[in-house]
Amino acid sequence: MIPLVKPFIPAREVLMPELEKILYSGYIAEGEAVYQFEDKFREYLKNPLSLALHSGTDALHLALILAGVKSGDEVISTPMTAEPTNTSIAMVGGKVVWGDVDPRNGLLDPYDVEKMISERTKAIVLVHYAGMVCDMNEFYRISQKYDLPIIEDAAHALGSKYRGRMTGCNSPYTVFSLQAIKHMTTVDGGFLCLQNVEEFDRARRLRWFGLDKKRSRLENDITEVGFKYAMNNVNATIGNVQMRYLEDVINRYIVNGKYYDRVLAGVDGVQLVQYSPDTEASYWLYTMKVKDRENFIKMMEANGVMASPLHHRSDTHSIFQTSKRNLPNMDKWYKEFVHIPCGWWVGDEERERIVETIKKGW
Ligand SMILES: Cc1ncc(COP(=O)(O)O)c(C=O)c1O
Repeated sequence: MIPLVKPFIPAREVLMPELEKILYSGYIAEGEAVYQFEDKFREYLKNPLSLALHSGTDALHLALILAGVKSGDEVISTPMTAEPTNTSIAMVGGKVVWGDVDPRNGLLDPYDVEKMISERTKAIVLVHYAGMVCDMNEFYRISQKYDLPIIEDAAHALGSKYRGRMTGCNSPYTVFSLQAIKHMTTVDGGFLCLQNVEEFDRARRLRWFGLDKKRSRLENDITEVGFKYAMNNVNATIGNVQMRYLEDVINRYIVNGKYYDRVLAGVDGVQLVQYSPDTEASYWLYTMKVKDRENFIKMMEANGVMASPLHHRSDTHSIFQTSKRNLPNMDKWYKEFVHIPCGWWVGDEERERIVETIKKGW
């Protein structure tokens, strides 16, 4: 079976000596390996204000705190995501206000978001779902017009771009996840990418109980309660090795995604998504709409290919009961979209087989 997701782990001979070295080095907490990993990641994104954390969820939590979201504030977000995007809004006591999605790609619809802005709105959380980038031209217009910060949840979108610049250096807050099945994994890990030096220093303290790691413990004074969100040297060592392969790995997702865009156009029963203007997707999952989805999935599985919608819409969870709202485009999208394998493990032969299988019909 060709899986839908699969962690890329560097070869044993390359990774294990590095892991062994760090495990027995006597220093496995946050230290030099983390700082080296941060340097490499910053260079990759071209954003020096990027901070390694233990998870993407930690990064979302800190982004919401830095954006000033407090109990009772409203945050506009999307139901078309993994749960942590919206549970983290609840973590700071924020009320999720759902925006509907664009029926052409399942991404948050800026025009619907604009309608939902009230005087209690504190931030807009965008999810670059499956590696497709939201309509940033429209979201930056809205952000400026209403003076609202954008938080980009780019957990699925490492390596994607807006106007030729990497996602991660375009908004005040961008969040990445390095969890098990993402483009790059450190087993668990995350990055918070910022644009403001004061916020960067604050986030650095917040990731370590409120302590400033650059000073000795005795010289420290906690002025704001922080968390235990730092990355450790073991996860960072995996990250340091992963960085050697990152461009090639991500490139394979993108090359495969573009291949499907080309060869699946016009195939009976398939409707391709429309990408937002001025953006370049990084195709974490290949996303499309199909007629009669249940049969499509069964037919693909019978042919050894995993296909699935993968995510459960967030607005149906009981904790978001008070945010309930009619989302007609989401209802429609949720019935039709599906993902097919697109990542580094999908070679030329596999992707041809996948396309031929789809072309035979279901
Ligand atoms: C869209 C999205 N946001 C946030 C997260 C949270 O990341 P993490 O699992 O690293 O905490 C995930 C993934 O798990 C995700 O898919």
